[in-house]
Amino acid sequence: MSWTKDTSEQDAVAYKTSFTKSIVGKYTDSSEQCSVVTSMRLNKNTFLLDAGCGAGRYLANTVTDQPFVGLDLSLEMLRMAREELKRGLFVVGELEHLPFKDNVFDEIICVRVLQHIKNQEQAIRELSRVCKMNGDVIVLCLNSWTFHCLYKNIRMSKLSKVINYPFKLLLGDKAMFSKWSFDYDNYCSLPEVCRLFDKAGLVVIEKKGGTIGSPWIFNYFYLGRFSEKFVPAILRYYFKICTFVENRLASVFPFNYIMDKIIVKGVKL
Ligand SMILES: C[S@@+](CC[C@H](N)C(=O)[O-])C[C@H]1O[C@@H](n2cnc3c(N)ncnc32)[C@H](O)[C@@H]1O
Repeated sequence: MSWTKDTSEQDAVAYKTSFTKSIVGKYTDSSEQCSVVTSMRLNKNTFLLDAGCGAGRYLANTVTDQPFVGLDLSLEMLRMAREELKRGLFVVGELEHLPFKDNVFDEIICVRVLQHIKNQEQAIRELSRVCKMNGDVIVLCLNSWTFHCLYKNIRMSKLSKVINYPFKLLLGDKAMFSKWSFDYDNYCSLPEVCRLFDKAGLVVIEKKGGTIGSPWIFNYFYLGRFSEKFVPAILRYYFKICTFVENRLASVFPFNYIMDKIIVKGVKL
């Protein structure tokens, strides 16, 4: 799969509901929302851009009266976002070629999009271009310095067929080393994202890690389904502890370099 202009309604709905219908999904959502929202500067006049807004998960959680724009490649995602928000401007477009003038937005967020973009340098340069002087650009992306990334790379490689063979015999087509669902999925490390910010003229003022509870393990190794069914209270408690730890260690070295997500905030000076 890849995100395109023609992403199906089924994929869009599956993505949206993945954050609401399970304990693992709810933890992922609240952890990601918290990391980004606590770094945002919002007042009633802030002009906000959510670049790669998807179904509007962040806009629904952050905007009150302020003007905002949601941009995304996928029409179906934007349709769902507009349905959810019921106001605001939604634009079809690519991060690498933003259809806006220079110096327009006060605050820009870009969550879980960078990994799907081939020219990441150009995408960050575009975010910087459309950001006002003194405005913020906040990017959340998946960290390449993790076992999650190693696991993804194995599933994206030719090795996956060999490793998956015994699991496939036991578990069928959805075995845990089957082919990765995205054709292109390029995670970044914290230093890499900081370098991209630097090249785009953004001064990095915050580097955080996020989602320490590694929800991917629960999603891909049947652990989530099992524990949600048989020990949901333990699972909730585990994520509660993760949230507690995350709130204290997210910005502390070396934890910010090795958590499942990285969040970088830069200011255009
Ligand atoms: C994983 S979703 C994240 C959506 C949303 N930011 C969230 O966190 O819920 C990735 C989104 O990025 C969009 N996307 C992928 N490549 C893009 C590009 N080059 N330009 C703009 N949007 C893109 C996809 O259509 C999809 O909605």
